[in-house]
Amino acid sequence: MSPFTVAIDGPAAAGKGTISKAVAAHFDLAHLDTGLLYRAVGARMLQGQDPISAAHTLVAGDLENPDLRTADVAQAASKVAVIPEVRAALLDFQRAFARRSGGAVMDGRDIGTVICPRAEVKLFVTASAEVRAQRRLTELAERGFDTDFDTVLADVQARDDRDMNRADAPLRPADDAVMIDTSKLDVDAAIAAAIAAVEARRTG
Ligand code: DC
Repeated sequence: MSPFTVAIDGPAAAGKGTISKAVAAHFDLAHLDTGLLYRAVGARMLQGQDPISAAHTLVAGDLENPDLRTADVAQAASKVAVIPEVRAALLDFQRAFARRSGGAVMDGRDIGTVICPRAEVKLFVTASAEVRAQRRLTELAERGFDTDFDTVLADVQARDDRDMNRADAPLRPADDAVMIDTSKLDVDAAIAAAIAAVEARRTG
């Protein structure tokens, strides 16, 4: 099968991860959550490493670190993600993954704009900051973290701000992206919208 890349971008906690996994399973494509790469570099920075050398020496085991999902690592990821040398160090790995022969779903912030500007399908998944904060709060509560709505909303907004306003590869929809606003969609409806958008491109 020739390479078939689905690029899924959007802000934190919009539902990209859930949608990406479902699209990958439905179309039998490999999936890369590119945020994990930045989280792995962020986690190493929190341990005192220089983020640029951390980005150059990432290994598969870094992506299995159970701490990658914490709020501290998320903020650190968004901080290291503004460093052009960190982004450059992660570029080849992401592009190679995207063009693997079986096809791939890539989710992140700059997949449709910078990593895979010629992706066969581009989706931009978004939702209001309040809806995203509420979802993240529920998810954190399920995982046993004790926090509150205002803290989570401030966290989401700080990351949005950094991700959208950085000079290198800022978060923004590609001109040819299909927009999916999940503010008023449940999980099944959001997944169905994404699958329909991919299907439309596959069948031409
Ligand atoms: O998707 P995520 O929340 O796991 O991403 C964590 C941070 O990594 C995010 O705030 C910004 C950065 N990131 C990025 O700059 N580019 C990507 N393609 C993916 C993530």
